[in-house]
Amino acid sequence: MATLEIRRIDPHDEQLLRAWWEIGRDATADRPVDAWTPWEVSRRALPIARTDGTLVLVSAFEGERSVGAGMVFLFRQDNTHLGEVAVYVAPGNRRRGIGRAVLAELERRARCAGRTVLIGSAYAPVDGESPASMFAADSGFPVGSAEETKVVDLRTAPVTWPALDAEVGAALGGYRVTVFDQRIPDDHLDDFCRLLSAFLGEVPIGDLDLRQASWTPERVRENEERAAAVGRVQVIAAAVAPDGHLCGFSDLRVNRADPRHASVGGTLVLPGHRGHRLGLGMKLATHRRLLELYPECAYVETGNAGVNAAMNAVNEQLGYRVVERCLDVQKRLG
Ligand SMILES: CC(C)(COP(=O)(O)OP(=O)(O)OC[C@H]1O[C@@H](n2cnc3c(N)ncnc32)[C@H](O)[C@@H]1OP(=O)(O)O)[C@@H](O)C(=O)NCCC(=O)NCCS
Repeated sequence: MATLEIRRIDPHDEQLLRAWWEIGRDATADRPVDAWTPWEVSRRALPIARTDGTLVLVSAFEGERSVGAGMVFLFRQDNTHLGEVAVYVAPGNRRRGIGRAVLAELERRARCAGRTVLIGSAYAPVDGESPASMFAADSGFPVGSAEETKVVDLRTAPVTWPALDAEVGAALGGYRVTVFDQRIPDDHLDDFCRLLSAFLGEVPIGDLDLRQASWTPERVRENEERAAAVGRVQVIAAAVAPDGHLCGFSDLRVNRADPRHASVGGTLVLPGHRGHRLGLGMKLATHRRLLELYPECAYVETGNAGVNAAMNAVNEQLGYRVVERCLDVQKRLG
């Protein structure tokens, strides 16, 4: 093997960034969902400086040829003990130690930044292992939380929605569901921050060492502005309690550059407000709005823990089916 060199790349260098992006695209092409972010979005999103963390991109070079890619996100506003890593090697270059070398460099950088835990996601077929799951196991990353990727077909699902609407309507009581495009109105912003900050404490995270996040109005607005700047459309449903405060949210994201599919961000109904079919009602609202905006959208992807019975029940009602496993893996840096 020619000498392998791992270098940090400048995301403003579009040629190097494109080579980095192509390796990720080729490495993930066999996933059952089209999960790799379109180039039109990545080329804008990856260079943007963020206040919530630092994104470090590295490429593995043999001479001037890029043969491997990786990234580590170093959280800044919360979870400052954590780095989130991803490693990509295209099929033609696998089992030559490139992934291991890229990961070693990402680990080195995470340690230098004072991080003590690394997390990542390895996707695998429903009934088997994958290069990613075996690479994670070999690299000292045991599974912290077994998640599943699910997909709903928007060409067939809507016929079931009227019956589900009736079920929601019968359970809502004094609650209601409303939907926003792209931006949370000012008068709901503080409530929305409370919901986002509560999220990690309410979803099953297994053994993952994820700590409570702290969302401020500035952080929400920065996220909204970044989404708009890179061409990512957000559809946000909110559940409104009888007292007028928000008690739940569910959001969807879709890239303007390729609106054939969308993905769910998160869904939460606060304890004390459950049992009114608000989760189902909010998801119906986001999926409907999505089809109004992008009738060509063919499917929505979501991911959540296999043990999350309440969310799984809602997703099953909506017609989501499991298409792959997503192993959230974790390593404690000694
Ligand atoms: C996971 C991935 C990065 C591995 O890249 P790679 O360059 O082939 O990995 P390496 O050659 O460094 O492999 C290191 C070790 O991982 C294990 N491993 C990697 N691929 C494996 C496979 N297909 N089967 C069994 N073990 C495997 C082996 O123990 C291997 O050591 P060995 O070759 O000496 O036996 C690559 O398969 C990939 O890009 N997959 C898709 C993207 C992805 O899911 N990334 C991981 C999550 S972020």
